[in-house]
Amino acid sequence: MDDKYATLLETCKQVLADNQRGNYTVPAEGLYPHQWLWDSCFIAIGLAHYDIERAKKEILSLLRGQWANGMLPNMIFADGDQNKQDRNMWQSKRSAFAPDSFYTSGITQPPMLAEAIVSIGKKLPKEERRQWYQTVYPALIAYHEWLYIERDPHEEGLVLLIHPWECGLDNTPPWIHQLRQHHTPWWVGIVEKTHLDIVANIFRRDTARIPPGQRISNIEALLYYDVIRRLRRKRWDIDSILSRSHFAIQDLTFNCILLRAHDHVRTIARSIGHEVPELLNERARLGRHAITEKLWDAFSGQFYSRNFVTHKLIKEPSIATLMPLYAGVSNEAQTASLLGLIKSHDNFATAFPLPTVPVSYSWYSELKYWQGPTWINTNWLIANGLERQGLSEQSAAIYESSIKLVATSGCFEYFSAKTGEPAGAKNFSWSAALIIDMLNKS
Ligand code: GLC
Repeated sequence: MDDKYATLLETCKQVLADNQRGNYTVPAEGLYPHQWLWDSCFIAIGLAHYDIERAKKEILSLLRGQWANGMLPNMIFADGDQNKQDRNMWQSKRSAFAPDSFYTSGITQPPMLAEAIVSIGKKLPKEERRQWYQTVYPALIAYHEWLYIERDPHEEGLVLLIHPWECGLDNTPPWIHQLRQHHTPWWVGIVEKTHLDIVANIFRRDTARIPPGQRISNIEALLYYDVIRRLRRKRWDIDSILSRSHFAIQDLTFNCILLRAHDHVRTIARSIGHEVPELLNERARLGRHAITEKLWDAFSGQFYSRNFVTHKLIKEPSIATLMPLYAGVSNEAQTASLLGLIKSHDNFATAFPLPTVPVSYSWYSELKYWQGPTWINTNWLIANGLERQGLSEQSAAIYESSIKLVATSGCFEYFSAKTGEPAGAKNFSWSAALIIDMLNKS
């Protein structure tokens, strides 16, 4: 590693030290006080470079939240009176599958678990690696089985999501678009008309700490809350949820991550002499086909998420279109088209790539959360895919830009893709962890 990055490496490690809470790491002090699913996976990828035991603990701590049906929740709530509101909002114990001894949410998040497990495995000597894989394999398989059994009811190889938070890119245009199209409950309608949405500020942790213009509106926050209310009324039971709700999306990013995770599941199984359940192999095979054939729009040369009920593509451009590069599923022509978008100044070729929404698109907003800024984790995912496909020039440019952003401004949550201005939470764990991983390449 280049000497000039030694200080940066120390800064990143310090962020992860400050955000450690016993066996796990919070995403950021204050704003995110719990353990989050895909955050912990990214964090473990960084930790694996210098503290393998802590990386293992991060993952094992995540697995304590697994439901009896295999679901991994996106949040495991911290104790303490100050967190009561979060625990009460979810009421996960309405489901018989929720753990007894602590509180979790009732929804999941992108399945980065297998990637984190393998990143740790790679750092271990052979015998220890086998032991590590043996320890986590049952939980990993249970999670992937749950995803397909519960969330792919029509056996299409595409998993459906039921809340924007499940996709990880919370307010990305396709989800906000669908949320707005879906019915607005009467009470939110009234709140909107009477401008009483300001009251929502009392309950919002984000806008108390981050400029409100960077986050979703109060009305959107109430719509998110309404989805939770409806899900918890159904006791988090997918059959009753799907029997009424028409709000379900086959999300592109999530499904690409799942396909890549399946490759890792096969690697893990092979190294410990297990057969991957046929259900998983079969659905992954269907999933690859579904992404390249059904989520591809030849006219715009882009991939999109799909509405589960209508099977219509949600043609709202976002960074998700590049995620098939991470999964390694796009065919030659599709890959060429995606590379064209990466190089295009109207799309993803900004001074600090990659913006989370193409810059010339109407939704683009320079500092609004997932509607424009560049994030270190989406950069990591796409550069990782490009690198594996031998597109090292493109991947190196993304790594380099990400490192520069953090070296200049610190481990912020996101940055303007045009100017590099830092925004969101400071000392954000996955920015630190993934920069540690990127620095270990250079
Ligand atoms: C935000 C992000 C989500 C992340 C969480 C904790 O909600 O959108 O992806 O997991 O913060 O960092």
